[in-house]
Amino acid sequence: MLRSLCEEDYPEIIRKLDDWWGGRPMAGLLPRLFFQHFADTSFAIEEEGRVLAFLAGFLSQSRPGEAYIHFVGVDPACRGRGFGRVLYEHFFAAAKERGAISVHCITSPVNRGSIAFHRAMGFNLAPGDEEIDGLPVHADYDGHEESRVVFVKEIG
Ligand SMILES: CC(C)(COP(=O)(O)OP(=O)(O)OC[C@H]1O[C@@H](n2cnc3c(N)ncnc32)[C@H](O)[C@@H]1OP(=O)(O)O)[C@@H](O)C(=O)NCCC(=O)NCCS
Repeated sequence: MLRSLCEEDYPEIIRKLDDWWGGRPMAGLLPRLFFQHFADTSFAIEEEGRVLAFLAGFLSQSRPGEAYIHFVGVDPACRGRGFGRVLYEHFFAAAKERGAISVHCITSPVNRGSIAFHRAMGFNLAPGDEEIDGLPVHADYDGHEESRVVFVKEIG
């Protein structure tokens, strides 16, 4: 079942988050506010009361026409079954309905699975100021030594 994300999902998702990211410490990057304030454009796939996948995204207040996906995660046992694609396509439709013409997101250059997923979802890699293994990277994007790959997809 695909539904909107809600605040009650926060404890369950935050408990699983680092495991879903292969042990990387991610929980601090997804504060409760995403579950409180962006529920209209954030979604969960639930089965028998368990969240199997989720997406946290929003429309930019400051950049009209831009939507942003902050987090997407799928239970490792459920990957490769199209859950990520379903969540993204649902987000594209919700964002477009609300006036967005482009979707933006970022990922860490080490997250090769995420880079492959975003390419498969039709995102382009924005030009960066550095290259890592042939990937355009924005150095120190999220602070010292926190480089990021920046993705853009037109949906208008
Ligand atoms: C990235 C992630 C969300 C993908 O979810 P998923 O449900 O497995 O992806 P889907 O099955 O919907 O795949 C959609 C497309 O992406 C491709 N894809 C997904 N993961 C891939 C991978 N690791 N390597 C290569 N291609 C991949 C699929 O082949 C598919 O392509 P197609 O539709 O053209 O056949 C999931 O692997 C995940 O939760 N990873 C850990 C969290 C993370 O890194 N999130 C992203 C950064 S916020």
